[in-house]
Amino acid sequence: MRTGAASWTARWVAWMRALAEHLPADERLASDPAAQGFTWRGAARASARPWLGRALVALPPLRFNVLSLQLRTRAIDDAARLFAARGGRQIVLLGAGFDARATRLELDGARFFEVDHPATQAAKRARAGASPARYVAWDFEERPLSELPAALLREGHDPAAPTLTIWEGVTMYLSRHALDASVRAVRAYCAPGSELVFNYLDQRRLDRRVSGERLVVRWVGEPFRSGFAPEELAAWLQTRGFRLTSDRSYAELAAELLPRRRHRGHVDRRLALATTS
Ligand SMILES: C[S@@+](CC[C@H](N)C(=O)[O-])C[C@H]1O[C@@H](n2cnc3c(N)ncnc32)[C@H](O)[C@@H]1O
Repeated sequence: MRTGAASWTARWVAWMRALAEHLPADERLASDPAAQGFTWRGAARASARPWLGRALVALPPLRFNVLSLQLRTRAIDDAARLFAARGGRQIVLLGAGFDARATRLELDGARFFEVDHPATQAAKRARAGASPARYVAWDFEERPLSELPAALLREGHDPAAPTLTIWEGVTMYLSRHALDASVRAVRAYCAPGSELVFNYLDQRRLDRRVSGERLVVRWVGEPFRSGFAPEELAAWLQTRGFRLTSDRSYAELAAELLPRRRHRGHVDRRLALATTS
């Protein structure tokens, strides 16, 4: 990430969520009315106009991005609701960006902890208004992640109770070292019965493909740095204290959640769910 500036990709994600409000009802999987307040001013203005919002979301590259985001956000929302239905009350958003789940999901009695880069978190807090979330500023590449459990404890996290950690849209931007240290830190603050949900890029496609998206993220200073080989993920998690319980491609999510006309594409992205082993 560029020093001092809030994450460009977090603002982009907020814009994609704002545009999602203009999707046809059967393609809208997760509504986030607050998203508009966190993107760039011009983008927010464009997505606030219904005719322009509908025109933008009809453009194939934008529509693909909006739908991709809808799939992962909805699948993670479902995981959070299930965790809460089973009695889970602590949710850590790792690399929270402009995630509005703390207010959007209305999970009775749930406590949210938002961990993010100091620059992005400062931008979030400047606009978030009254949020029940506890904030912990952290640069995953610079600050030892082994200190994260103690920092969460100071904010009221209970390491004896189960925690759901949501790591949405983050793994691809981190070095392998930060990925490893992050998962070990998550395991260190997790009681039995805790869960970790995250999306990732398939490493082989990351190695092979040159795409417009990759060029853009490199240009804005947040290049894709890491992916996982799906067949190696279970073992990677196992050595860090997690058991992989589900690992689905976005194509599978699309088949489940979107109308048939939107099933194509979505192949190189995946969503994984793991529990403490
Ligand atoms: C694409 S955004 C996703 C934000 C949010 N999770 C969502 O899905 O809306 C990537 C997030 O990763 C965070 N991030 C990237 N590199 C980071 C680092 N080295 N330390 C802390 N956070 C980082 C950014 O600040 C940003 O919030």
